[in-house]
Amino acid sequence: MSNLFDLTDRVAIVTGGGRGIGWEIARTLAQAGAHIAIAELDPMTAEKAAEEIRGMGRRSLAVQTDVSNHDSVEAMVQQVIEHFGQIDILVNNAGIALNVPSETCTVEEWNRILGVNLYGAIWCCAAVGRHMLERGKGAIVNIGSMSGSIVNKPQPQAGYNVSKAGVIMLSKSLAAEWAKRGVRVNSVSPGYIGTDLLNKGLSEFPDWGKTWLEMTPMGRVGSPVDVAHAVWYLASDAAAYATGTDLIVDGGYTAW
Ligand SMILES: NC(=O)c1ccc[n+]([C@@H]2O[C@H](COP(=O)([O-])OP(=O)(O)OC[C@H]3O[C@@H](n4cnc5c(N)ncnc54)[C@H](O)[C@@H]3O)[C@@H](O)[C@H]2O)c1
Repeated sequence: MSNLFDLTDRVAIVTGGGRGIGWEIARTLAQAGAHIAIAELDPMTAEKAAEEIRGMGRRSLAVQTDVSNHDSVEAMVQQVIEHFGQIDILVNNAGIALNVPSETCTVEEWNRILGVNLYGAIWCCAAVGRHMLERGKGAIVNIGSMSGSIVNKPQPQAGYNVSKAGVIMLSKSLAAEWAKRGVRVNSVSPGYIGTDLLNKGLSEFPDWGKTWLEMTPMGRVGSPVDVAHAVWYLASDAAAYATGTDLIVDGGYTAW
């Protein structure tokens, strides 16, 4: 039986792949055989990640990218196509968090959270989607969040929640538009995962963590590799009939 999880010689873009969940996704897809483009805001971590992927025997390219900037995304996708000749997998992982009360959230803050988390995914899906539709194949996995389905407690984060609900609905909408043209689009929605993004929230407001763990049936945060494995499945041929789905990986948080 052929290994449906094998990604040998597929080319994957991972946005925000320099650290945290994105880095673990990049490493996991590379372990499965894929060559990786790291599209990342921070050029230092991007290059370090690409170097590590090359050390695994795969091809890798670091491209400094601001996903919230349409021109930056178009240039990144062009560069990846020129370098690798094709894109088989896109993982829209780059994201930021923002914990401010809605009544005082500024225009600039709304623009920033929606610009990175939602518009970033839109620009990347459109640019890579055109290429995939031309080839008649491809898999896109957008990193949503359980915050796209529930309202977190106790921190205020309407902008983040709205952006992630948008990412989940973007994935479903594109999945339906592109289903008969060979391109699958899904989302993976993590619960609390131990990364810099989570630690930043905890260091500013240490009492939040207690509530988060109490509200998670498994009683612990997840690790980036838990998310990476879900992405691997959706990016692979094992998920050939899965499109428009939102795979929640949250230690049971949304079950309660
Ligand atoms: N950590 C969690 O608990 C959690 C839970 C649910 C969803 N998520 C989502 O998972 C994704 C990764 O989160 P993480 O915890 O690894 O965060 P992180 O802050 O550790 O890493 C985010 C990465 O994205 C990059 N990035 C930020 N803005 C960018 C931009 N404009 N253009 C390109 N790259 C950019 C950063 O440089 C960084 O490498 C995000 O979309 C986040 O919303 C995280």
